[in-house]
Amino acid sequence: MREFKIETKNGTSNVIVGESIKNVLKYLPTKDVFIITDSEVYRQYASLFPSFAVFEITPGETSKSFDCVTEIYSWLIGNEANRHSFVLGIGGGVVSDIAGFVASTYMRGVEFGFVSTTLLSQVDASVGGKNGLNFGNVKNVIGTIRQPKFVLCDGELLSSLSEPEYVAGLAEVVKHALIADYEMFKFLENHYTEVLNRSVYSINYMVERSVAIKSAIVQADEFENNIRKKLNLGHTWGHAVEVCHGLRHGESISIGLVFAAQLSLRRLLITHQECDRIVGLLRKLGLPTIISGNFDKILSVVQNDKKRFGKNIDFVLMQGVGSVEIERIALSELHEFVATFK
Ligand SMILES: NC(=O)c1ccc[n+]([C@@H]2O[C@H](COP(=O)([O-])OP(=O)(O)OC[C@H]3O[C@@H](n4cnc5c(N)ncnc54)[C@H](O)[C@@H]3O)[C@@H](O)[C@H]2O)c1
Ligand SMILES: [Zn+2]
Repeated sequence: MREFKIETKNGTSNVIVGESIKNVLKYLPTKDVFIITDSEVYRQYASLFPSFAVFEITPGETSKSFDCVTEIYSWLIGNEANRHSFVLGIGGGVVSDIAGFVASTYMRGVEFGFVSTTLLSQVDASVGGKNGLNFGNVKNVIGTIRQPKFVLCDGELLSSLSEPEYVAGLAEVVKHALIADYEMFKFLENHYTEVLNRSVYSINYMVERSVAIKSAIVQADEFENNIRKKLNLGHTWGHAVEVCHGLRHGESISIGLVFAAQLSLRRLLITHQECDRIVGLLRKLGLPTIISGNFDKILSVVQNDKKRFGKNIDFVLMQGVGSVEIERIALSELHEFVATFK
């Protein structure tokens, strides 16, 4: 078990990697706990839940809406949740986004924590205090930044995850390696079969390294004024792919990482060989690397991105493997680059 303490102006968060859901009571108040989960996680793990009131959302991205959040507020009010209540999210990134948003807005904010049940949420979504709801076709456009009291990452819960969901989470692991950890990149290249077989050693390694990288960045820049932007590697293009093609978040990020690698290559920030290694690793891990179809639609979503400034957009680009920089790119250059795909 390893503990990572994230100390920010907005509070302290403890991420505990390798802790079992069976011990969650240790981290909770004794009463007034309200659990938010999704029906699939509840079906699999209800017997391990502590005995508090439970709200089940429908699994999937469409639940990240005001409709769903409104139902949860009504449930909290109906159950007399107060300012001292505690919200516990048990699930993947969708549950942590919803539970984090509800907890940080209900009664102007109550305490909350997560048991993270997907690889993607253990290595990314539940760390860092961001939460988000979708609005229209704009992803994560409504949200807050507020730190959970704790996040438990129990590797055993990942054994029931479907293959596509597990593989999707690996995209965020590759992202962290590309941002700051060439050693992890080489580990993934050399041990991809163990990784795909979900060996306990490789899961703990990936979650610990990822949490260490993400928490160090969040601690340095909680509100994304500078270096936190690096965590958006692959996400500008990836989010747009997610919206237009309805792929899983991680699958879309894999395509976004390839896009960022190719753009970095165009700007001579990485070599052909490095670009091939990045694409090769994503393929070995079973992630998609190309998408066919309508790039204009993706581009139009990119132009609505939070990171656009007038005629320019901030893009995270690679500088070799294991280091990134934020580059302001003219939309016209982006259009020219995308035109080379056709
Ligand atoms: N706030 C952030 O910082 C942040 C960062 C990255 C991603 N996200 C968000 O996270 C979301 C994606 O998260 P996700 O990939 O965890 O998806 P998810 O929460 O939708 O979970 C994926 C599927 O796996 C099922 N599931 C969850 N845990 C399971 C388990 N242990 N066993 C079996 N099935 C299980 C769920 O029911 C669901 O059907 C996106 O909405 C994305 O925007 C947020
Ligand atoms: Zn992501």
